[in-house]
This record gives sequence, C-alpha cells and structure tokens, in this order.
Amino acid sequence: MTTSSRSLLAIEPMEPKQIVSLLRLAKRMHYEKPRNILRGRRVVLLFYEASTRTRVSFEFAAKALGATTAVVSATASSIEKGESLLDTGATLRALGADAIVIRHPSSGAPGLLARNLDIPIINAGDGMHEHPSQGLLDAFTILEHKGDLHGLRVTIVGDVFHSRVARSDVHLLSKFGAKITLCGPPALVPDNALALAPGIRISQNLDESLHGADVVILLRVQKERLQGLELDVHEYTVNYQLTRERLRLARRGVIVLHPGPIMRGMELTDDIADGSQNVILDQVRNGVSVRMAILAYALGGAR
Ligand code: NCD
Repeated sequence: MTTSSRSLLAIEPMEPKQIVSLLRLAKRMHYEKPRNILRGRRVVLLFYEASTRTRVSFEFAAKALGATTAVVSATASSIEKGESLLDTGATLRALGADAIVIRHPSSGAPGLLARNLDIPIINAGDGMHEHPSQGLLDAFTILEHKGDLHGLRVTIVGDVFHSRVARSDVHLLSKFGAKITLCGPPALVPDNALALAPGIRISQNLDESLHGADVVILLRVQKERLQGLELDVHEYTVNYQLTRERLRLARRGVIVLHPGPIMRGMELTDDIADGSQNVILDQVRNGVSVRMAILAYALGGAR
C-alpha cells in the first residue's frame, strides 16, 4: 500500500467498511486525552478558502495526537503571488510535510495533489465536490443520537446544488440505507441531484419533506447566490426557513444538523439555532475526534 492510499479525498469511492472503521477509531479518540501517536510528524493545513471550524478542528486534532502543524492560507503566503498548487505542494513536501490537509475552491484539487505527492492528502472541502471529513462527522453525530443509519429518514434542506457537504452526506448516508429527501427550490435542488445516489427523493415542499423526518440537515444559503439565480430572499425564507412550528411536523426526537456557518434568519430561526433539538455544537465537538481518527489513519499511527 503506498502512503497516499491513506489519503481521504471523497466519500463516494469509499467502502462502507472503511467508513465504519474510521468512525470506530473516532470513538476511541478523545480530545481531552491527548495521545502522542503522531509525535514528530508534520501536518500542513493548506487553506485556499476561509474556514473557522474545519481549520481549527484539524489543527486541534493534529496537536492532540502530538503532531506539529503549520497553517498556510492563501491570503498570507506565496500562493497569493501566483505559485501553482503543485509547486506549493512540492515545496511543502520538501520542507518535511508528512500530510497535507487542503481546502480549495476547485473540485479535484486535493486529488491532483494526491496524484503528484507521495504523502497522504486530506480533502477539507474542494469546490462543489466533497467535504469528506464533514460527511464523517455528520454520520458520527447522527449515530451518537440515533444509534443506526439504516431506514433513518433524513431531510436535507437548502442549497444542495453548491454544497460539497450535501454531496458527502448523501453518499455516506445512502451507503448505509438512510432514506434521503433533498428539499429546496429547483434552482438549488435540480433534478440531476437524483443521480447522486439511488433512492433519494426531491421535494419542493418543506412541510411535506419534514413529515416523519428523524434528522434534518440544513445547508448554508448565501443571499448573493439566491440573487444570482434571481430567487427572492424573502420568498426563500417564507418557503424554506426551518421554524419551530415546522419542526413539529418531524418525528419526535428529531435532530437538526448544520455544518455551519449558520445564518440566523435565513436557513433557520433563532429558536431553532438556540433550541434543544439542534446538535450543531455536538457536530463541532465531534469534528475534532473524527479528524483525529482521519489523521491517525492517514499517518499510520492508529492502533
Ligand atoms: C461548509 C464548507 O465550507 O463546505 N462549512 C464547513 O466546512 N463546516 C459549508 C459552507 O460553507 O456552507
């Protein structure tokens, strides 16, 4: 096995058993109980896009395992001077990087790096493609609350079209038999979203798609994107904002996830953002354990 087969580029090509073993490993990772299994290893966080939770949680995860980290962001490095992705990767490798965690606006950028470097590459979100660590931490959080994914009714609401999180979630949850409904206006949930996985449903009616839901995943909806698509922001909130009244249509014990950043008054109301059904901060916390597992596996320190 070459080192880079330990890369994490996307959920779609993964075998369910690989996913299960990463999630099991994450269960054994405790952020408050640091382990030194990656002592002396160097992890570079190469971010070509803004990020709060993903970047910080990868950094905390690497440090909790004893690794040394360096953060390189597009606005404060030679990247801004026009250095290419592959030259930046080669430079980081020559500096001694043992793994690179990369976020990039172009779909496929992490794959390109993985094909050209002999170290594991971890995709922290690439364009409109995938965000596999978010998919894993969403599954981890759902399992923590619901115990099983099989037969679970999951409604994903919002800008599915632009969302790499939605793609990773759909691939992961459908591999384990969850029943997925994608909900939003046609411009944000186009018919070709059906091709993502067999058996998913599309609905333009939020109330209908909330009936019987065990899990609701909200996605960020950018005002500028709505305007670009000539969708009315007010109309969007009237039709698709998750409110307390609407959430009553779901199953008892429903949980609400959101990968963040949340836009209060847009995808959700304050009472949902501050309510007990939402597990958004659990997602954030679990993100550290899940990323510890990803890094431990990638760098071969997992036992
Ligand atoms: C998402 C991302 O960047 O893909 N956020 C995250 O990483 N937790 C979602 C988004 O920005 O809408």
